[in-house]
Amino acid sequence: MSGVNLSGIVKAYGALQVVHGIDLTVAEKEFVVLVGPSGCGKSTTLRMIAGLEEITDGDLTIHDRRVNRVAPKDRDVAMVFQNYALYPHLNVADNMAFGLRIRKMPKAEIKTTIADVAEILGLTPYLDRRPADLSGGQRQRVAMGRAIVRHPKVFLFDEPLSNLDAKLRTQMRAEIKRLHNRLGVTSVYVTHDQVEAMTLADRIVVMNDGRIEQVGTPMELFNNPANTFVAGFLGSPPMNQMKGMLTETGAKIGDAEIKINGAVAGHAGRDVIVGIRPEHVTLSDEGQSSALPISLDLVEPLGSEALLHARHGEDTLVFKADTNGDIAHLSGVGAVHVPSHLVKLFDAETGRALNLGT
Ligand SMILES: Nc1ncnc2c1ncn2[C@@H]1O[C@H](COP(=O)(O)OP(=O)(O)OP(=O)(O)O)[C@@H](O)[C@H]1O
Ligand SMILES: [Mg+2]
Repeated sequence: MSGVNLSGIVKAYGALQVVHGIDLTVAEKEFVVLVGPSGCGKSTTLRMIAGLEEITDGDLTIHDRRVNRVAPKDRDVAMVFQNYALYPHLNVADNMAFGLRIRKMPKAEIKTTIADVAEILGLTPYLDRRPADLSGGQRQRVAMGRAIVRHPKVFLFDEPLSNLDAKLRTQMRAEIKRLHNRLGVTSVYVTHDQVEAMTLADRIVVMNDGRIEQVGTPMELFNNPANTFVAGFLGSPPMNQMKGMLTETGAKIGDAEIKINGAVAGHAGRDVIVGIRPEHVTLSDEGQSSALPISLDLVEPLGSEALLHARHGEDTLVFKADTNGDIAHLSGVGAVHVPSHLVKLFDAETGRALNLGT
């Protein structure tokens, strides 16, 4: 049984199509994150699963039941919104109980359910307070609690952490992950934050302009992005992309040549994008074979490591280096080295990852 299945899902507003036929299966108990730039159709897709937007074309099933025409309240999904959507005049307990009362759950059962969920979320001391008298993080927890008490088949989250400050966001992110490990409810989570996607997801769905670019585990997408869009979206900072031309032994970038493992032989002359992760760059001596000469632009200390911004000809390169407690030694860097087996190649025209038979 699949948790949620989207098959050829299309959304159009009048003549304007914004989701162009999405196929996606979310397994039962799986935590899937939809990530992509603003306007790519994440919320629209999620709201179609929730029943808050009509589906223009395609089939949507939840636990193998087709629900295209089923009302939101009968889909057995619970949604957590970015703005929490709490009732301001109700206290925490009543906010959480609201949906249960509508569903005519017996009073005694409501009481124990609320008590249990409040305990899980650390909300027990706040049950009598109104939302206005809570911190942002506590409000977020109430919104989660309201979803949890309903024991839905599927949780749907639309940027639930984006109203919180950075520290709280990290904290709540970990709480959501723990909660998922504990409750194991099928979840679809929307964010434009790639770190949230990487840390929370069993599988990530990278969306762009109403289409899916790639689906995979966080590490699959990080290690083997299908195209330059995914490569440029995941990772912080994301993968560097430099224009290059293949030679018999590597790739020419500007007037330098970096070595690439055997596979490029026979492809000399082909225009490519050379993908280099900031983490894979090492400092080098200028004369070293396969070194890439750079002129350093900026050094940003982060503590144990620093972010270095550099230029090679017309291309920019951002990479990381250990500080060992001091950044003075980094200001003189004039060349870097990229281990040949870690370089990624993409077709210059289509942006698709090149697999040259390795
Ligand atoms: N009611 C509507 N009428 C017309 N176009 C709409 C409507 N609602 C959304 N859109 C368009 O659909 C596209 C997808 O919007 P959606 O809200 O799904 O994006 P998103 O990926 O959630 O972006 P964000 O990260 O900014 O929340 C956008 O181009 C948006 O302008
Ligand atoms: Mg959105």
